[in-house]
Amino acid sequence: MSAADALTAEEVLGPDSFAAHGYPHDAWKMLRREGKVKYFDMGARPGFWAVTRRADIVWLSKQPKLFLNAPRVAVFAESPPPDPSKPNRAVLCHLLNMDPPDHADYRNLASAWFTPRAIGRRRAEIERIAEDLVDEIADREIIDFVEDFTVPLTLSVLADMLGVPRSDWRKMFAWTNQIAGASDPEYQADGSDSGEQMRITLQEMNAYFAERVEERRALGADAPDDMTSVLANADFRGGTIPTLELLSYFALLLVAGNETTRNAASGGMLALIENPGELAKLKADPSLVNKATEEIVRWTSPVIQFCRTPVDDLELHGQKIPAGENLCLLYPSANRDEDVFEDPDTFKVDRSPNPHIGFGIGEHFCLGANLARLEIRIALEKLIPRLVSVELAGPMERMRSSFLGGVKRMPVRIELR
Ligand code: HEM
Repeated sequence: MSAADALTAEEVLGPDSFAAHGYPHDAWKMLRREGKVKYFDMGARPGFWAVTRRADIVWLSKQPKLFLNAPRVAVFAESPPPDPSKPNRAVLCHLLNMDPPDHADYRNLASAWFTPRAIGRRRAEIERIAEDLVDEIADREIIDFVEDFTVPLTLSVLADMLGVPRSDWRKMFAWTNQIAGASDPEYQADGSDSGEQMRITLQEMNAYFAERVEERRALGADAPDDMTSVLANADFRGGTIPTLELLSYFALLLVAGNETTRNAASGGMLALIENPGELAKLKADPSLVNKATEEIVRWTSPVIQFCRTPVDDLELHGQKIPAGENLCLLYPSANRDEDVFEDPDTFKVDRSPNPHIGFGIGEHFCLGANLARLEIRIALEKLIPRLVSVELAGPMERMRSSFLGGVKRMPVRIELR
């Protein structure tokens, strides 16, 4: 029996070990070394095959007709299986659980908003938001880098794109925490990981966006130029977007758009604190900002995994995998793959090349990648030149999740010019 054979589902996919210690890079390394794709049993719940190598994840992700998203978006090791007696269990239907041909039709509805050019037009507005936040924290000695900087940054930008008042960001903060943190008792009203709060939150959020949609539809051609208007008034297959799909679009953008970038930016700051030589390099040469941004996404890999379901039986590295089982694509493992990255366990702000797949790859490649990159770049551009010193002022607290590498709190002592 090899060392990898002794690994448990919890050691490979958390959630308790993630919350306590962060990503299990040593366990993933063992699996990569072993080479084969290994099955993990989860008792009463369906188990999963851990796909840890970059080449395998790329190969699977690029065949969307053979490896589907719809049957299971991700392996949620922690939450109980859905209860079929609950009437509102079909609460989400969005890009991440769609397959060809629907997926492309729905993705095209929003893609024009996320091209490099469209995102580039938002630069001045994002810079203003970041500058205001830096000014606010400049007067303080200890801040929570998450709640005082990365959360208001990402949520204000999203609020502007969606055309909802920035003052609603606290509400959105609570909602996205309750959804992304469905298995973290801190965010659940009943203190359990039953996912019940997530269902309640989704209903609340859907009701909020249903009102915004009605407003935009009533305004017709006079509706403001924002994503809510575009989706509300879209001409889709000769009508409007069906209600569940429409409301799910907002939920996806809100959760995918802030629970990820905020963790990359927070984890990026932690990496700079823990690697002062790299921080000094970036300070000395601001032109490294793009490479540093890519390295932050590789290093933090805020999305732990998505799932693909094979249509047919397959054989991968000599391992037979039956149709219908869960292939769990572990992005942070791929981003430390020693066959691809030199010195993968070292954080280097000038890493080049850096073919990370933190944003995924293929058909479902992150729609918001250009926005996420710009937000991280601007955060670095506005913070680093004014930074006199920064250090942790308490432990970083991680979210209990097997899906997102969430940073709940990160107290830092910071001095800014
Ligand atoms: C550092 C920040 C981010 C990371 C690491 C990240 C990561 C990912 C990953 C891994 C996927 C799935 C890719 C795949 O299955 O191949 C994805 C999909 C997606 N992301 Fe992001 N994301 C980030 C930021 C954002 C932002 C800012 C937005 C929008 C405002 C966004 C919206 C989406 C959407 C809509 C999808 C679904 C795309 C599809 O299924 O076609 N993401 N993201």
